[in-house]
Amino acid sequence: MVDIAHLNTFGLRAHARSLVQIHSVAEAQAFLQAKGSGNEPVLVLGGGSNVLFTKDWPGTVVQLCLQEVTFTPVSEAFTDVYAGAGVVWNNLVQQTVARGLGGLENLTLIWGWVGAAPMQNIGAYGAEVKDTITQVHTLDAATGQARIFSNAECAFGYRDSVFKHTLKGKYWITGVTFRLANNPRLNLNYGDIRKTLDEMEVNEPTVQDVSRAVAAIRTSKLPDPRQEGNAGSFFKNPEVAPDIAAALQARHPLMPNYPGAGGLIKIPAGWLIEQAGWKGHRRPHVGVHPRQALVLVHYGGGTGAELLQLAQDIQADVSAKFGITLSPEVNIL
Ligand code: EPU
Repeated sequence: MVDIAHLNTFGLRAHARSLVQIHSVAEAQAFLQAKGSGNEPVLVLGGGSNVLFTKDWPGTVVQLCLQEVTFTPVSEAFTDVYAGAGVVWNNLVQQTVARGLGGLENLTLIWGWVGAAPMQNIGAYGAEVKDTITQVHTLDAATGQARIFSNAECAFGYRDSVFKHTLKGKYWITGVTFRLANNPRLNLNYGDIRKTLDEMEVNEPTVQDVSRAVAAIRTSKLPDPRQEGNAGSFFKNPEVAPDIAAALQARHPLMPNYPGAGGLIKIPAGWLIEQAGWKGHRRPHVGVHPRQALVLVHYGGGTGAELLQLAQDIQADVSAKFGITLSPEVNIL
């Protein structure tokens, strides 16, 4: 058995039967062809920043440590950037920002690797990766055959893609192509970005400035998993029918809300959890972050089961108090 505690940002103790680190697409293909339809369960793990281990993994954990990054100018307006699945997400963002390319700057300092970005369509501060992804490069997990998915084929939604549903486990993501703008149009509308830029005394922001502002906001609210184990937002922000949102708003006039998909109204789960009294709640090994109630924390020495119990207690309480069921964003294994 191999210890995989260092491979999940909760830092929870877990073991796998074996760990395989793969460094090229050819090696990944060879692995899949050799594996054939063998029934040893294989878990592909990236930076482990969106996973909760509640038990040991009964098979092999594979990490696709594919590190290639290439920049290809495609027109006066755009540059295509290809990044391998194993590139650390924030390192990619920093490379694009350093070149003045626009599109990923609002996604600064998200933990994890490139390969997981399309899987759950990572997003923050008014941007989602679906806005820039043109191609997702994959291997068929059954045959090792290469297949490229277009943006439309990925069926992206809020923290969602085809790779989480119909095609779950069926394809290995080996790399992603992004189309970034040579003359960026900045997206400063969300939350505290403008205020932070003002505080930084930046009048004509560049992508670097926006990236620095986002980094400052995130650092002020979200715990660093190297210090306090966490996986970012634990739950998705629920989307409810307008009449339900209106009824809640009548009871809680200050309730924040945003337009969601298909006419639904998105309500911040962090607000619901805080109103239910859980913000800063602390158990011996796990708790709710005192500055962002959507982030559950493992303080060390705990188990995935304790973390899961906390999540379930919060779900039950929010459901009892607001009639809203929170769904986890984190992949619970
Ligand atoms: N809020 C509270 N109490 C809290 C937390 C939030 O009342 O404890 C309220 C805030 O006051 C604000 C609203 O909820 O009015 C939204 O809060 P925030 O801007 O912090 O964002 P979020 O909805 O909690 C989402 C993403 C984050 C992303 C931020 C910023 C989801 C599940 N989470 O969080 O993504 O960084 O917006 O764009 O959509 C992640 O997915 O892991 C993640 C960190």
